[in-house]
Amino acid sequence: MAVRLGDEAPNFEADTTEGRINFHEWKKGSWAVLFSHPKDFTPVCTTELGTVAGLKGEFDKRNVKVVGLSVDPLGSHEKWSGDIKDVTGHALNFPLIADPDKSVANLYDMIHPNASDTATVRSVFVIAPDNKIKLTLTYPASTGRNFVELLRVIDSLQLTSKYSVATPADWKQGEDVIIALNVSDEDAKTRFPGFVAKKPYLRVTPQPKAS
Ligand code: BEZ
Repeated sequence: MAVRLGDEAPNFEADTTEGRINFHEWKKGSWAVLFSHPKDFTPVCTTELGTVAGLKGEFDKRNVKVVGLSVDPLGSHEKWSGDIKDVTGHALNFPLIADPDKSVANLYDMIHPNASDTATVRSVFVIAPDNKIKLTLTYPASTGRNFVELLRVIDSLQLTSKYSVATPADWKQGEDVIIALNVSDEDAKTRFPGFVAKKPYLRVTPQPKAS
């Protein structure tokens, strides 16, 4: 079954490079990113894991716990982690799930048989503190993901979970936002004073400040 936006993220237990985890217990109170890799000792995956390790401080700042997954066994992950450090300069600093029986991969529909019967695609799930799925992405094996874009989306998700706003195309932290359609003009006048209506349905306001 596909895991869709708004669904509860399925719970699981798994061995990782940082010990056995119960997913819901491990992420309790935090946002989480769960992302899969086709295979250990592969070039694009090596660059992706090093890149995420380099961005760990950015995920921490946002109260986001990161966990990777590859269907290879733990011993393989441990050997591969040396290569990740050699190549990217960043040692793994978040857990990498070993999923040789593909139980987690199947739970999250990370194997797309018409792409590969055995390897996972590059899936990403962003999961809120209440365990609801807030974002899904699927990339093919041949395309490495842009993790700065993932941070940008997390900024939008966290902002829009607190305020009745949406973020426009290419929005970045600190830029103007859009007032949600379910806020009346009357309410908008008190909640977002000075907003600009470019169209009746497109009302722009400065990004609300975190209180
Ligand atoms: C890679 O990470 O480079 C890769 C993994 C599986 C298939 C193709 C490429």
